[in-house]
Amino acid sequence: MSKKPIGIFDSGYGGLTVLKSLTDQLPEYDYIYIGDNARTPYGTRSFDVVYEYTLQAVKTFFEMGCELVILACNTASAKALRNIQQNDLPRLAPNKRVLGVIRPSAEIVGTHTTSKHVGILGTTGTVNSNSYVIEINKLHPQIQITQEACPIWVPLVENNQFDNEGGSYFVKHHIDNILQKDSQIDTLILGCTHYPILIDLIKKHTPENITILSQGEIVAASLKDYLKRHPEIDVKCSKNGNTTYFTTDAPAAFDKNAKLFLGKIIQSKKIHLID
Ligand code: DGL
Repeated sequence: MSKKPIGIFDSGYGGLTVLKSLTDQLPEYDYIYIGDNARTPYGTRSFDVVYEYTLQAVKTFFEMGCELVILACNTASAKALRNIQQNDLPRLAPNKRVLGVIRPSAEIVGTHTTSKHVGILGTTGTVNSNSYVIEINKLHPQIQITQEACPIWVPLVENNQFDNEGGSYFVKHHIDNILQKDSQIDTLILGCTHYPILIDLIKKHTPENITILSQGEIVAASLKDYLKRHPEIDVKCSKNGNTTYFTTDAPAAFDKNAKLFLGKIIQSKKIHLID
């Protein structure tokens, strides 16, 4: 049996924040990253379209031989993961696994909040799907959840336009909004993998007593635990410490912007997702 890399998918660059934590915490594994930059953002798209695009990415990873795929995108996790796990996997590849990023964050939040008031910052799609509310309520029914959609944050990141007065305004605007909706919030989940890039601005506009949870480390810790509990999957993952990058848009632009997320130079290739 030939071992294969773990597939990491995002609508664009955001999943690189998760990939970075994965390569920090699980450096021995190989990864293939696909960013669907040509069709980003997903956050404002319909359920059906996000599902269709995400399924194409999953099929592409499977075609490359990946046994395990992480949807490092909250919008894809919220709108496509359940359908893919329940309807597509059994027919396409019953022994392969697709995991998301919402469940690990929902699991961990109970250990961070004292007030039991938690805020979710996410894309319109993630917020409207109510996935965080559903997942957190299942595990921690005593937690009160308030959500805020921040539709402009992903375009600010994708276009590298956040480090200015306009960027600061829009970050402050949504933080103020969510804290106005519930002043008892003591924990904020950055429910979009793009948002860690805005962390300095987010911290600047958030009171210091509020804990801000980014998903990278949470997802990496959860994957480590998953692979320990599932040796039958772990044994199929190759371990040479390599990462390969693909984008559905121009590789030169991807490489330039990826540096912002990864802090290092990479060389991506263009890919067409399987229909
Ligand atoms: N980074 C993604 C997320 O975690 C999606 C952003 C988008 O494409 O709108 O939700």
